[in-house]
Amino acid sequence: MDTLLLSGDHKNDMERAGELLRCGDIVGFPTETVYGLAANALDPEAVKKIFAAKGRPVDNPLIVHIAELSQWAPLVREIPEAARRLAERFWPGPLTIILEKSDLIPMETSGGLSTVGVRFPAHPVAQALICAAGVPLAAPSANRSGRPSPTTFSHLREDMEGRAAALIDGGDCSVGVESTVITLAGDRPKLLRPGGITLSQLESVLGEVEVDPAVLNRLQEGTQAASPGMKYKHYSPRAEVTLVDASPEEYSNYVNQNPGCHALCLEEDIPYLIGPYLSFGGRYNGAEQARLLFSRLSQLDELGAGRVYAHMPSKRGIGLAVYNRLIRAAGFSVINPKNHFVVGLTGPSGAGKSTVGKLLQKAGWAVIDCDALTRSPEVYDSQCVLALQSAFGEDIAPKGELDRRKLAKRAFATPEEKRRLEEITFPRILAAVRREIERNFSQGKQVVALDAPTLFEAGLDASCTRILTVTAPEAERLARIQRRDGMTEEEAKLRLSAQREESFYTDRADYVVENRAEGELLEALAPVLQELQIGNGGACS
Ligand code: TXA
Ligand code: MG
Repeated sequence: MDTLLLSGDHKNDMERAGELLRCGDIVGFPTETVYGLAANALDPEAVKKIFAAKGRPVDNPLIVHIAELSQWAPLVREIPEAARRLAERFWPGPLTIILEKSDLIPMETSGGLSTVGVRFPAHPVAQALICAAGVPLAAPSANRSGRPSPTTFSHLREDMEGRAAALIDGGDCSVGVESTVITLAGDRPKLLRPGGITLSQLESVLGEVEVDPAVLNRLQEGTQAASPGMKYKHYSPRAEVTLVDASPEEYSNYVNQNPGCHALCLEEDIPYLIGPYLSFGGRYNGAEQARLLFSRLSQLDELGAGRVYAHMPSKRGIGLAVYNRLIRAAGFSVINPKNHFVVGLTGPSGAGKSTVGKLLQKAGWAVIDCDALTRSPEVYDSQCVLALQSAFGEDIAPKGELDRRKLAKRAFATPEEKRRLEEITFPRILAAVRREIERNFSQGKQVVALDAPTLFEAGLDASCTRILTVTAPEAERLARIQRRDGMTEEEAKLRLSAQREESFYTDRADYVVENRAEGELLEALAPVLQELQIGNGGACS
């Protein structure tokens, strides 16, 4: 088949594409999530062409795309209040809402189901195409079945040139993973596929949302999939992908010991890697990971990668969508090279990190008190004192004995002085913590939590498999600091205002635990403890 290459910027091209769709042809087009392959959703013969072009199993239903709210009601039996609220908040955007379908939707489109997923995409070219066609458009991701979804025009061409009547260039997709799929067709709202709209965004509108087990785990043989797409092999490049659940340091060590492989790494791993790598974004930048993941998987094929080690991303926020795709690309193969976890315990002052540390200790974890280590003679050994003397003056250590007050006075006088202090002490603190971690591991203590106020500043996070952030309302934090350190309210306020915002810590967290009454705190920690049970290989061995 000859495939027309069209531009989303040209009005004539869009009219041409609309005409093709009205005539029952299929067209590849950009959306904010991934490129889609469209057909008239109400025309069974047109829809069949999508299944043929993708090589898609016919029982896997298609999402129907609209460009005006008024197009929704005729497609479904009824629109419940909860669905309206979701649409109002998140449409146009990367959310698909499943409801009981109307008779207008042919069984070919719904894959034989009595329900239909509808989405109102935000991409202007997608909207223009739906308008030009004048009908709702059924559109799966435009990959050949089983392959990574295309997020760039060149990847769309690779999979669909010669298979569709036209392909429309709209540049790179901004979200990069497919839409969030939620069903409101059952008794309770249920997340079937994580995507651009996060679970907590959904819960902010609906209250608690159930997560289908297939989001995180391999579907057991013989069980019925709530979302048929989840039972098929997915997002796979030709390379054999393994997910490595490890800190940046351990990940890089492991990959470096396996020559001939490719690293699908996080930005932070790059300085440590010896062999070929592709980064899919910053460790704490889930949106970037989502945007880049699929194109990186395709690029690995272009590089001819045979064996790929991918660094486990966070499952928080949009990270859940990144993880969901990556674990499928890896065929659920996960390794934790040393079979241990190092959890960085962090959060703003007064949130109750040490309370959480104590609970973890009770649960059998070794807890390293980095605060104490930071002031220990192990860090301030004679070499360190010499370095400090040459930076801040001989007299900060008369007769080699460190005068901490004098040092503090000089070192905290200006930001530059503080930086000089840190340049000397941070590497030593890091080394001391690493020794402590190894000591605990060698004693058979498998999980180590670091009570680490300088976790990110000193670069300790490179040793951590996970980050656990403790938060508490500001009023409670103020009260706790006053009680604990004997400060006035003014002093406590000053202390807090000199620190980073709470969001700095939560943005970097794999888990966020709000510090409440002890019983509740244990309950909040339960999922963390459960996931990090050794031998569990992370969440999903
Ligand atoms: O972002 C997106 O949603 C992209 C763009 C093109 O809009 N489309 C997309 O479609 O990802 P597709 O077909 O690749 O993925 C749709 C997923 C499949 O896993 C399918 O099984 C599920 O949604 N799905 C669709 N309709 C469903 C229904 N009625 N019940 C349960 N699952 C459904
Ligand atoms: Mg797909």
